[in-house]
Amino acid sequence: MASYALLGLATLQGVNAWGVLGHATIAYIAQNYVTPQTASWAQGILNDTSSSYLASIASFADQFRSTAAGAWSAPLHFVDAEDNPPTTCNVNFTRDCGATGCVISAIANYTQRVGDGRLTADDINQALKFVVHFVGDVTQPLHDEAFEAGGNGIPVHFMGFNDNLHSDWDTFMPEELIGGDSLADAQSWANTLIAEIDTGSFASEAATWIAYDTIYDALTTATRWASDGNALVCTVVMPQGAAALTAMPDLFPGYYDAVIGTIELQIAKGGYRLGNWLNMIFEKTVARRSLTDEAEIADRVPESELDGHKFLPEPRAMSKAKMARAALGYGCNHQH
Ligand SMILES: *[C@@H]1O[C@H](CO)[C@@H](O)[C@H](O)[C@H]1NC(C)=O
Ligand SMILES: *[C@@H]1O[C@H](CO)[C@@H](O)[C@H](O)[C@H]1NC(C)=O
Ligand SMILES: *[C@@H]1O[C@H](CO)[C@@H](O)[C@H](O)[C@H]1NC(C)=O
Ligand SMILES: [Zn+2]
Repeated sequence: MASYALLGLATLQGVNAWGVLGHATIAYIAQNYVTPQTASWAQGILNDTSSSYLASIASFADQFRSTAAGAWSAPLHFVDAEDNPPTTCNVNFTRDCGATGCVISAIANYTQRVGDGRLTADDINQALKFVVHFVGDVTQPLHDEAFEAGGNGIPVHFMGFNDNLHSDWDTFMPEELIGGDSLADAQSWANTLIAEIDTGSFASEAATWIAYDTIYDALTTATRWASDGNALVCTVVMPQGAAALTAMPDLFPGYYDAVIGTIELQIAKGGYRLGNWLNMIFEKTVARRSLTDEAEIADRVPESELDGHKFLPEPRAMSKAKMARAALGYGCNHQH
């Protein structure tokens, strides 16, 4: 229990996943790729026709989880892949998604809910905010990793601060690159990444980021996104292991220079996937529903149960890694 107790002492504040900057940037990128029809649908749900309608709510889920009313949602921001980095990285949904859910089941659940005509406006509003946030979280490699609670328990030095690897990936390395975390900073970073996707260094690969994405099987799609992020833990985040990072006098500039391109890649992926995902939700559920006449309504595929329990793995005994995460209060540890 000693190490859990230590983790439990850490101050749980600023519980962000990609920080505010990363999530808002992902949202702005998505705004660029949604169709006008998807945009007005989302603006209607959010009651916001401003130019930041998705970016403004992109970190809602992080604020919510730090409230008493929202504490239940904390495990939905990550999946604790119980692999063995840097030797072996992999995600196994049955093994890794806890009994109360993880980012994979949450993406599936809120994807279904946001397009479900039976729910109240408040439920649909919450579902959209969760989808926008969790499709971002799953691209952060350390949100797809159980080791040391996703790197929260790996002490490192960055730009003269003593912090942890998770918070540097979420927040401090992106902010070092961009110089701030305002919506204007996010919009500007998004514009840079959109240009890379459309005509720059990501142009040849962007189609592969969404190639097999389908809302008809959100669980498989989200598991693939998690596996993609998780693989980077072995290859980019800690290829020499965690101790080598803790031993570095400072992650800047050597480590930062080595990984910042991957951070940009993952933010770009998150935004591109989110835009495509929202288009699919709108086109395959909401748009179809509003087109149906009486006969088509009678013919409609039955909607599934609203508690989303079919998106959860079979219950299993809690592993050591999951007990450690629970002791940490499911938070991230962001201190500077
Ligand atoms: C939508 O926003 C407008 C102004 O921003 C506000 O007056 C109105 O009450 C809101 N409607 C709902 C349903 O929240
Ligand atoms: C995934 O994990 C479950 C539970 O530990 C295990 O039974 C199954 O064999 C694993 N699947 C793969 C492909 O390793
Ligand atoms: C799906 O979302 C609803 C509303 O937040 C929640 O009550 C339910 O537990 C969720 N189900 C899963 C499997 O996450
Ligand atoms: Zn999060």
